[in-house]
Amino acid sequence: MMAGGSMDYQDKKYCLLDDKKLEAEKILYYRTVDSTSLAIHRNAALSENYYTVVAEEQNKGRGRRGRDWFSPPGCGLWFSILLKPSMLKPENAQAITLITGAVIANHLNEKYEISSTIKWPNDLILNGKKLGGILTEMKGYQTKIDYIVAGIGLNVNQKPADFPELLKPLATSLFIETGRLFDRTELLISIRKALLKAYEIFYRQGFAPFHNLWLELNETTGKIITLIWSGKSLTGKVIDLSENGSLVVEDEHGFIHNVNYGEIKN
Ligand code: BTN
Repeated sequence: MMAGGSMDYQDKKYCLLDDKKLEAEKILYYRTVDSTSLAIHRNAALSENYYTVVAEEQNKGRGRRGRDWFSPPGCGLWFSILLKPSMLKPENAQAITLITGAVIANHLNEKYEISSTIKWPNDLILNGKKLGGILTEMKGYQTKIDYIVAGIGLNVNQKPADFPELLKPLATSLFIETGRLFDRTELLISIRKALLKAYEIFYRQGFAPFHNLWLELNETTGKIITLIWSGKSLTGKVIDLSENGSLVVEDEHGFIHNVNYGEIKN
């Protein structure tokens, strides 16, 4: 570690992403950027479908609900993908978050024999702690999507000491849970490949091919949860996920609620 707490790029444990390999994959690489998602927004009009930006470090990393996203250099994957789905309706765009989470968790589990899960709507979880998150932003009109930015943050090679005190009880990394250091470049390239394949399937066949996978990976499927939104709350059992990505919750009176926003408290 260097003075001031930022990571030493020379420390072998924190090797940089391989810019040559990223270039070959047409992934734009920043050493430091405000936010990879903001970088995409700035260039969206002139950029192709699946244009991807990754950064070693973000100094204005953005999380869901206006939160900051802790994005130190050399140890995580902070990247965003531009999607220009010509046929997708705005009401179905929420599925992009759900598919992104399920595909990443499934990919990690199959490739590295871990047991990561997802937590509706956008968390990646490993052993009860947050491994990563997805922030999907849509630009367009009520009836037509201009473009979508899928922003992904994945904690990869962080050690416990690399997290600020506030995050230590809540966050984890692949290294912390497996004791292995991961080649982040390879990981990014393989995750991106899996995602692009999934998005193509989604555009052609809708959410149906991902429905069961999502329910299997989702932490709260079949469990009693409490959802909080705008000062309100709802307690009930998660029984399904609707076609357009709403969580289907049955309350104690047997009423069914299709929930599109909010946060699970437990
Ligand atoms: C969350 O769980 O709150 C979502 C976190 C999303 C973070 C990623 S990191 C890459 C992309 N750029 C950002 O500024 N945010 C997303």
